Amino acid sequence: AALLAWADVLCPTVTDRLDAALFEALPAAQQTTRLLANFGVGFNHIDLTAAHARGLRVTNTPGVLTDATAELTIAALLALARRLGEGERRVRAGRWHGWAPTQLLGQSLTGRTLGVFGFGRIGAAVARRAELGLGMRVRYLNRSPVAASVVKGLEAAPCTSLDELLAVSDVLSLHCPSTPETRGLLNAERLRQLRPGTLLVNTARGDLIDEAALATALSNGELAGAALDVHAREPVVEPALLTLENVVLLPHLGSATAATREAMGRRAALNIEAFAAGTPLPDLVRG
Ligand code: DGY
Repeated sequence: AALLAWADVLCPTVTDRLDAALFEALPAAQQTTRLLANFGVGFNHIDLTAAHARGLRVTNTPGVLTDATAELTIAALLALARRLGEGERRVRAGRWHGWAPTQLLGQSLTGRTLGVFGFGRIGAAVARRAELGLGMRVRYLNRSPVAASVVKGLEAAPCTSLDELLAVSDVLSLHCPSTPETRGLLNAERLRQLRPGTLLVNTARGDLIDEAALATALSNGELAGAALDVHAREPVVEPALLTLENVVLLPHLGSATAATREAMGRRAALNIEAFAAGTPLPDLVRG
């Protein structure tokens, strides 16, 4: 709130909650800030309606973190399917006593079906890597029709409903933004629609999943495992998940490469420069 009354531009990150209460805490006449140049592509931590009502423009950093996030998604999926976290914990704890025929047997991904929920830049990049790199079959569901150029060279096929996507997926990977429509998307009922052997991957936003319901489903064997890079109450991780072996828990690493973070900074800077020059903002977020 103090910065809003001092800076012309704020450059928030995903950890900065800019909600209506924050804006209301400051009389409009005292607000100097006119631009929120978000350092990141997701902007669910900013109440857009409230920001726009206060005359704030909002920009983000699309495109530059697609590959890094897609790579991390595939890494998390492989770690889950092949039980890398469990293996590492065993080695480090001195509990590994040598190779054994039935030790830490995981799942192969070749020929399995990956369901992608949200087929924007990141979802499509994950699909491409999964199909061409891992030999998986891909089905996807997107809010709007997907351009032919996005799936060029892929056999990835659309589903007509979420029910269908949940029913066909051996692995379900979430790549949609967190919005009022998608929050709590995977609740207890939807988790039950997944087949018992299904693996769930989330590198999008934690609040897409009811984490307590997920922990129950994983404990009961209703799901085979989950890899979560994002959490509903970051940096708090759902306590019930921490004790489970069949979960890969990561600290929001999707865009965490030096080159990507630099590109995100440059992209935010481009928007700030345009704002200062009074020219159109390249990555204006419309509400
Ligand atoms: C984003 O940009 O939205 C990521 O979650 C953090 O880089």
